[in-house]
Amino acid sequence: MRYLSAAQVARLADVPPEARPYYRALADAVRALILDGRLPVRVRMPAERHLAATLGVSRTTVTAAYDLLRERGYLESRQGSGSWTALPDPASTADNPWLSTGQDGLIQLHAAAPPAPSALREAMAEALEDLPRYGMGNGYDPMGLPALRERIAARYTARGLATRPEQILVTTGSQHALHLAMSLLAGPGDPVLVESPTYTHAIDVARQRGARLVPVGISHEGWQADLVGCALRQSAARVAYLMPDFQNPTGALMDDATRAAVAGAARRADTMILIDETWAELDLDGGDGSHAPMAAFDNDNRMITIGSASKLWWGGLRIGWLRAGTALIRRLAVRRAAVDIASPVLEQLAVARLFDRLEETRAERLRGLRASRATLVAALRERLPAWQFAVPRGGGALWVRHDSGSAVSLCEAAATRGVRLAAGTWFGLEGTLEGYLRVPYTLPPAVLEEAVKRIAVAREHGPAAGGRPADALVPMI
Ligand SMILES: Cc1ncc(COP(=O)(O)O)c(C=O)c1O
Repeated sequence: MRYLSAAQVARLADVPPEARPYYRALADAVRALILDGRLPVRVRMPAERHLAATLGVSRTTVTAAYDLLRERGYLESRQGSGSWTALPDPASTADNPWLSTGQDGLIQLHAAAPPAPSALREAMAEALEDLPRYGMGNGYDPMGLPALRERIAARYTARGLATRPEQILVTTGSQHALHLAMSLLAGPGDPVLVESPTYTHAIDVARQRGARLVPVGISHEGWQADLVGCALRQSAARVAYLMPDFQNPTGALMDDATRAAVAGAARRADTMILIDETWAELDLDGGDGSHAPMAAFDNDNRMITIGSASKLWWGGLRIGWLRAGTALIRRLAVRRAAVDIASPVLEQLAVARLFDRLEETRAERLRGLRASRATLVAALRERLPAWQFAVPRGGGALWVRHDSGSAVSLCEAAATRGVRLAAGTWFGLEGTLEGYLRVPYTLPPAVLEEAVKRIAVAREHGPAAGGRPADALVPMI
């Protein structure tokens, strides 16, 4: 098929005349048709004036719909030759739900990010008191403030991994840490091993580096050491990006025997391991606490560990860090000069103060997550009993196998019912993992109850009539 008539598009889109705003409903309908494969990619769309006449709307309405589709990457146009359907470039952010956080009135169930702890205000106030002493200096500390590096190092030591402050580089969030480490370790064409599913923005980083992603499948039960070993050997991976502590999105926890086996396999394959411990402090069920940090299994400086203040405390602080051998840390610090030179002083001071209240603040976070997890689990079991998931011991999300065929369509429908969801495909490569959703329990229980109610309606009845609902649909509960 090379082109579609106005009548064909109008029939397929089937937008109710009363939909408001109409241009958005039209754009959403066309986008859903493309995602469902009912409108092929690279098919010429009707001229705006023809479609407007057929639909009985003004030409500016159709122009606005086409503009929106272009902005999201579903339409390409060339002056004088018309417009074609398209799919957004996966490397672009045209249709990335991440960019809409908090601005569309939907329940933000696509992000696994808890709110700030009650101690934040006080930590900030104390940081402000500390600030004048730092204000005498120039404010740039590429390695991070000594006061914070000391506390981060002490925390690793307490967790069973002896660490000196010189082994720590403070970064602007762990995403920055991940980018920095990946940019040092992987270049264009280099094989990078990732778990499947994996953390979506790690895929972004590796893609941006032009790396070749090598997936190794994991489940709720976690990693199979022999598969990881085979994948490392066969792909000759330069880097393996792993989340042994409450893996995002599955919540899996790697046991000690697997940690040792994976470390050995990496040594034999000469692969560097990038360990993301962003969720490591959130062990909801405690257990026996016997697992040592992965880097405790490192005996030849091949592991770089990433940590973050975002999940234990708050993402808005934008403080993360890297732990590695001192020489590597210095190389990474030199590289950051090209990006941001140093992290903000006030936020570093606040995180240093939060480290001083680690036990109390973590207890509050764990209480909140446990309550939200219990509510989410109960609500899903009640309203969507066919959906399958294991309840993870820690972390912030359930990795759910749904029964709706396409996760993308389900997410589209849920958005029209007021819930922004994360489709499994977001965590996979090449469009895999359509059968899954990641459902975080980082929002309060009452919001999760409401969200599941709406998801169940979306699953049962599909999108709300008229496509996308009006903005500001969901009162925050
Ligand atoms: C596994 C993992 N790594 C890194 C990040 C980035 O976190 P931040 O940059 O806020 O520290 C996240 C955030 O969700 C995450 O889940």
